[in-house]
Amino acid sequence: MIKIATLLEDASSIGQEVTLKGWVRTFRANRFIALNDGSTLQNLQCVVDFENFEEAVLKQINTGAALAIKGVLIASQGKGQSVEIQVAELNVLGGADPEQYPIQPKKHSFEFLREQAHLRVRTNTFSAVMRVRSALAFAVHQFFRNEGFYYVNTPIITGSDAEGAGEMFRVTTLDPKNPPLGEDQAVDYRQDFFAKETNLTVSGQLEAETYAMGLGNVYTFGPTFRAENSNTTRHLAEFWMIEPEMAFYDLNDNMDLAEAFIKNILQYILDHCKEDLAFLDERLTQEEKNKPQVERSEMGLLEKIQFVVANEFKRISYTEAIVILRNSKLNKKKKFKFPVNEWGVDLQSEHERFLVEKHFKCPVVLFDYPAQIKAFYMRLNEDQKTVRAMDILFPGIGEMVGGSQREERLDVLQERIAAQGIDAAELDWYLDLRRFGTAPHAGFGLGFERLVQFSTGMGNIRDVIPFPRTPQNASF
Ligand code: 4AD
Ligand code: MG
Repeated sequence: MIKIATLLEDASSIGQEVTLKGWVRTFRANRFIALNDGSTLQNLQCVVDFENFEEAVLKQINTGAALAIKGVLIASQGKGQSVEIQVAELNVLGGADPEQYPIQPKKHSFEFLREQAHLRVRTNTFSAVMRVRSALAFAVHQFFRNEGFYYVNTPIITGSDAEGAGEMFRVTTLDPKNPPLGEDQAVDYRQDFFAKETNLTVSGQLEAETYAMGLGNVYTFGPTFRAENSNTTRHLAEFWMIEPEMAFYDLNDNMDLAEAFIKNILQYILDHCKEDLAFLDERLTQEEKNKPQVERSEMGLLEKIQFVVANEFKRISYTEAIVILRNSKLNKKKKFKFPVNEWGVDLQSEHERFLVEKHFKCPVVLFDYPAQIKAFYMRLNEDQKTVRAMDILFPGIGEMVGGSQREERLDVLQERIAAQGIDAAELDWYLDLRRFGTAPHAGFGLGFERLVQFSTGMGNIRDVIPFPRTPQNASF
């Protein structure tokens, strides 16, 4: 058996007899099968001489059916393709009743296809997105391996809820109808599976830090879970995060690495996913045509990716960003839903979008945020007001990366933990890193689906992960 992608790449295949297996996209004139096997966007035309096949077999060649085909690859007689298969043997492995198969060869809305998430990868758009997603994941591992990083797997079930990155999903084996109660009538989690309260992790960072403090440079790439009720085009309840953590790095090293990392993996897909990206570029262009002029993106998908790879990200401090926002026309004309007046406010996505899409027109790295709006583990600056945090903001996406230099000083960290009302006992193991061989270190988290969204031009994050989990939805 040979894959269609391999066959099309290799000109010497002409004249050879090959075996192919795939799914019917269309069957025209009882003669032309467009076969797709997932290895490429391209269908291979397979020509059947209907006189050689029984009517009963031909009838089963419907859109969606799985076929095994044996035949000779020849230069195509017709227009629209350079090669085709002259079918000698044909086996219908599995039919697909046209009355019932939902993915017919016509335009389906993404909303409809979300309800058919188990079948939608058989469309051009979703197969292209998922091939690009797979290539990006490979590029992530390749980048870190080349840079001498170790891949670590941090726990998915966590007994620590101190990270504070978001609301958590509880993990329990207790009977919800009849949980054991303690003397205070509260649920007695000592009788639960782990003899304590446990949750799905929101981030592998704190555990990754422990490994950076022995292996040097490490990264995680795994699922993370947030029970926020954010029904937006950029939030999932289950998403994949890449979290590198580097011993002896400061914030500048961290920003340099994040920028090099993003550019490297985008270059990888430019080099290796040309066909799929060209298709997604065209899809986006068509979609943009239906939008009012003012909302249209100035660049096409490929152009956007190439632009990010070729240009430096703009780095500015939170304080500088506040000055720009405060003086912006939008703010003065009261066009922001959340007006920017005082230093210290958290930035809303409308502000981030203004900076990235209107003001700088390129990815922006914001750093040195006010301490009170950021996590306890971020390193306090000498001004005692800001922390060595950084967020990377992307056009059309907003926050792609969140990271920081970590607070390595035991006493400062303890103060920050106390100030945020976190139980220090829970974090004793984390504090040990500062008690024994502490060192400056830094890291960041990149939301993988947001990167896939940027790379594919898909408007909704639900369409870049096979089975999205969002509020009210965990089908499949
Ligand atoms: O900014 P966040 O919350 O940072 C952390 O969790 C740190 N512990 C990371 C670190 O320093 N190691 O999340 C990191 C990134 C965000 O910038 C965003 O891209 C993505 O994760 N993200 C989400 N993606 C999809 N759905 C959600 N609900 C997301 N929440 C965060
Ligand atoms: Mg963040």
